[in-house]
Amino acid sequence: MFDPVKFIEEQTRLIKEKIGDRIAVIAVSGGVDSTVCAILTYKAVGERLVTVFIDDGLMREGEGEQVISFFKQQNMKARLVDARDEFFASLKGITDPEEKRKAFRNTFYSVLGRTVREENATCLVQGTIAADVAETIRGIKTQHNVLEQIGIDPEGYGLTIIEPLREIYKHQVREVARSLLLPKEVSGRKPFPGPGLATRVLGEVTRERVEIVRKATKVVEEETEDIGAFQVMAVLLNDRATGVREDKRAYGHIIVVRMVRSEDAMTAEAMDVPWETLKKIERRLTTEIPEVVHVLYSLTDKPPATIEFQ
Ligand code: XMP
Repeated sequence: MFDPVKFIEEQTRLIKEKIGDRIAVIAVSGGVDSTVCAILTYKAVGERLVTVFIDDGLMREGEGEQVISFFKQQNMKARLVDARDEFFASLKGITDPEEKRKAFRNTFYSVLGRTVREENATCLVQGTIAADVAETIRGIKTQHNVLEQIGIDPEGYGLTIIEPLREIYKHQVREVARSLLLPKEVSGRKPFPGPGLATRVLGEVTRERVEIVRKATKVVEEETEDIGAFQVMAVLLNDRATGVREDKRAYGHIIVVRMVRSEDAMTAEAMDVPWETLKKIERRLTTEIPEVVHVLYSLTDKPPATIEFQ
């Protein structure tokens, strides 16, 4: 049986031992994994932890500000790094999903590496969980935060990597979050991929296309707060459909809505959602985002699909 209290005690002690009197940086996203890691590390080394939110332009609406203000409320050092231009420049012209993940990861570590140096830190704390490692080993996807994939040994750069959650799964991370008395918005927060909305924009990731998915995501999330999904999402397809607006032909975007139930993200089941809910989402998407003329619902479980589209 997993014991969150014991886990917290043990990890706090281990983190303290590993960091010693050095400075540590953690890139936080607002998700339960990185938040739990940040709080554990803060318990271990206090002011010697700098939490950083890297604004990659791929997060949901208002996410950066919310995350920074949460950590400031805990009296922790929190810094927002605006790297939007760098991310969009690195993703320009790329359509292959794995290439996009790699471009994202390279930019992520280039920005993070610079931030680590600016803070004079020699420790990097990461919220990698067991599922991230398992999927990487199985070669399914390039996870942005699994360092082994970069092919460089961070220790060779004098950087100590600390991954307190590497052995545990999402539901256990949530138990730890509740045990740390983190608010429900954190302990119950739905997973969101590291590369953010980039995994939900098929084809080229541009500011304009991300903006469509950002608006669609907000609608889908608002309409599904109470359905108990593991994850809900809106995905922009890399094709268009003929539609009709005010009696004229409109060649517009296609959005796929996906909602899944899952325990640990290793397998997932497409949800049986009431038709009224789906129709309400569809109506909001096609009225609030005029560029969208067609909405689809994803029926496929994982496997054979994955939770994200790419
Ligand atoms: P897939 O799409 O592989 O997703 O079935 C499994 C879970 O992982 C999330 N995901 C990621 N999380 N970095 C992350 O931190 C990533 O690169 C990444 N890709 C997918 C996904 O949202 C789901 O919860």
